[in-house]
Amino acid sequence: MDIIEILRSASKLVYENVKDLPGTEEAVAGDFGRGAGGDISRNIDIIAEKTVVDYFKEINFECTVLGEECGKVELSSNPKGFVIMDAIDGSANAVRGVPFFCCSLAFATDDKLSSITDAAITNLSTGDIYWASKEKGAFLNDKPISVHKEKPLYKIVGINSSGTSPELLKRLSPIYEKHHHVRHFGANALEMALFAQGLIDIFIDLRGKIRVQDIAAGYLLIKEAGGLILDENLEPLDSDLNYETRLSFVAATNKEILSEIFSLIK
Ligand code: IPD
Ligand code: CA
Repeated sequence: MDIIEILRSASKLVYENVKDLPGTEEAVAGDFGRGAGGDISRNIDIIAEKTVVDYFKEINFECTVLGEECGKVELSSNPKGFVIMDAIDGSANAVRGVPFFCCSLAFATDDKLSSITDAAITNLSTGDIYWASKEKGAFLNDKPISVHKEKPLYKIVGINSSGTSPELLKRLSPIYEKHHHVRHFGANALEMALFAQGLIDIFIDLRGKIRVQDIAAGYLLIKEAGGLILDENLEPLDSDLNYETRLSFVAATNKEILSEIFSLIK
């Protein structure tokens, strides 16, 4: 089975196993402490991760899993690469029942974002799967997708403003003043998928807080959908896959919108 098929199948199983949990007490039942990524693990996170790892074991997928909650799980002494897993991205939305959270899975051959070859992000409210393979394009279910190419009627600016410092908020405030369609939905991976689908024109997360698990699949999806994915210095984004790594990034449809927005906040 192709790696992309494995990721898609695993995320389909996650959808089946968690679809009745959002907003219920079962989503938060039990005490699992903090996961490898540093956040409190919830039952729904644990069920979703177990679904993926059990499936990989069942099909004997020789890889090393880098899970947000479970940490590094070596499923073979001769792994083909790493699966970077955020089995539930947007956990707070999932726990409250806000229908915006997803399962994010990426496969990398090396300890680098730039070595990601396959990615799947599943909207766990609808079951829709966004996926991409290196140099083969990006898709939503069976249809090819791309970033928005035309001049948009409404320019949608995504900004992750959760837990932003007062200094960063002040720096970003000219964007809020100038643009009337600023959005923040609460699940970075799914926001990156909407960007790749052409529904958001620029997405900014300059908090220096995002983990590799939250953006690995979105990284490839955006590249394959024709978008720019850059670091805080507006250089091509790359990083190692360490648990301690925290990133900032900007996804933009083209250089024009990038200059327009960044001229406001320099
Ligand atoms: C979170 C989401 C959220 C972002 C947080 C992440 P999680 O991931 O991506 O949008 O603001 O920084 O931690 O914890 O729900 O997997
Ligand atoms: Ca998570």
